[in-house]
Amino acid sequence: MSNYDVVVIGGGPGGYNAAIRAGQLGLKVACVEGRETLGGTCLNVGCMPSKALLHASELYEAAVGPEFAKLGIEVKPSLNLAQMMKQKDESVTTLTKGIEFLFRKNKAEWIKGWGRIDGPGKVVVKAADGSEQVLTAKDIVIATGSEPTPLPGVTIDNKRILDSTGALSLPEVPKHLVVVGAGVIGLELGSVWRRLGSEVTVVEYLDRICPGLDLETGKTFQRSLAKQGFNFKLGSKVSSAKATAKGVTLEIEPAAGGEKETLKADYVLVAIGRRPFTQGLGLETVGITPDKRGMLENQKHRSGVPGIWIIGDVTSGPMLAHKAEDEAIACIEQIVGKAGEVNYALIPSVIYTKPEVATVGKTEEQLKAEGRAYKVGKFPFAGNSRAKINHESEGFVKVLADERTDEVLGVHLIGPSVSELIGEYCVAMEFAASAEDIALTCHPHPTRSEALRQAAMNVDGWAMQA
Ligand code: FAD
Ligand code: NAI
Repeated sequence: MSNYDVVVIGGGPGGYNAAIRAGQLGLKVACVEGRETLGGTCLNVGCMPSKALLHASELYEAAVGPEFAKLGIEVKPSLNLAQMMKQKDESVTTLTKGIEFLFRKNKAEWIKGWGRIDGPGKVVVKAADGSEQVLTAKDIVIATGSEPTPLPGVTIDNKRILDSTGALSLPEVPKHLVVVGAGVIGLELGSVWRRLGSEVTVVEYLDRICPGLDLETGKTFQRSLAKQGFNFKLGSKVSSAKATAKGVTLEIEPAAGGEKETLKADYVLVAIGRRPFTQGLGLETVGITPDKRGMLENQKHRSGVPGIWIIGDVTSGPMLAHKAEDEAIACIEQIVGKAGEVNYALIPSVIYTKPEVATVGKTEEQLKAEGRAYKVGKFPFAGNSRAKINHESEGFVKVLADERTDEVLGVHLIGPSVSELIGEYCVAMEFAASAEDIALTCHPHPTRSEALRQAAMNVDGWAMQA
């Protein structure tokens, strides 16, 4: 039996950040992780390997297509998929080892094995060899994350019918990849394989892609992906998918009912969302019951049971690594009596395709629904000198500001490297900046960030460069 101040269950961005912060604040902390490596979904099979393949495939497409040639770079590239996968796996290993280093640095202990709550203050950990140890703690943090949502009637075998993990490690480039679900995973991983040579068809239940996006931004995004060669079958659902050794036959039908259609693919990626993971967690021993969707409810990261806290994908809110990290900090700070808090209104969200999409705050549709009067300032990357000189002038910056106070309420970016630009508006909005504050702030020239300033100027109609 070992005693701790805090035991964290799960070593993903929620769990490992909680363990590190607890160590920093002088708590005796253990983090229980059942995988062979720390880092959770994000480092092992999520954010990081997907971004590694997005980066490599973007460069490959630039080299193969007209982009390099236009710049006067003449090469004859060929694809070494095994090497592309190897460098991805090596980067993942470096990153997961990095978390082990941060644990040592901050005196957080990694207990290897699967954790099970066994009544208040008690966690039993089963190691890979079947041995068990008991940990006791004043506080337990549940950070067990999420798993892919299954599609009824379709069996994921990760040979022909894949979830995101399977689609991150294919041994060959599919000739035809069918993606079920036009959300973030489908469009990011669909982009990877399209760039490497696949024909990609996306089947989406709703009549639009990425349903949470600001409508105008989503439409521009869809047009851009269609121009790249994505085939979209919107308003459609998959009623069956049968795999053979060589491929998959799918039946799809209109979501509203109607004639069925048969699609053939050599691989299918099912990416229709993720659901909380709480299997074998022993929640019944402390009287915690997941809701209908399997989600664990929290009130400022507290469960209803004293001493049990809940953070990350396993609970409500966007399933994003930085949201899990924010909750980890706030939760541990509350445990030591500080005033940790997450501002859920300002959690940015990014889609790492080309063009990238980055948003924070309210969409136009949300503001309309709230009846809030707002002004719009837009600026196209076609008017931005850095984007133009780099031949990356697709997309725009859109700033939504309160009509009366000029406070920035929402920002929607589509274009080059916008994942790196959105942080400026996150900081500005945390400080309740007005659009004028951004418009009057000097930005370096020539950078894409100047488009952020020009759009803010345009909230009052005085953009100077378009
Ligand atoms: P997880 O990362 O899922 O970690 C939970 C950990 O708990 C797992 O390692 C699991 O093994 C462990 N665990 C579960 N139960 C137990 C138990 N009983 N005992 C011991 N260990 C247990 N988010 C972004 O913000 N940006 C991105 O670019 C991005 N890209 C993504 C790409 C893909 C393909 C996927 C699938 C996800 C992506 N995400 C991205 C989402 C991101 O990965 C998650 O939001 C994030 O990992 C959630 O962190 P978490 O700590 O809550 O859970
Ligand atoms: P998602 O929620 O982003 O998209 C799922 C899509 O599938 C939606 O458009 C939905 O309408 C559609 N859908 C649902 N059921 C369907 C059905 N039966 N048939 C056809 N379409 C159907 O989920 P996704 O892409 O699986 O990603 C899960 C989560 O992982 C994301 O919500 C996000 O939180 C996280 N993620 C974040 C990334 C990032 O930040 N860049 C990258 C990848 C994942």
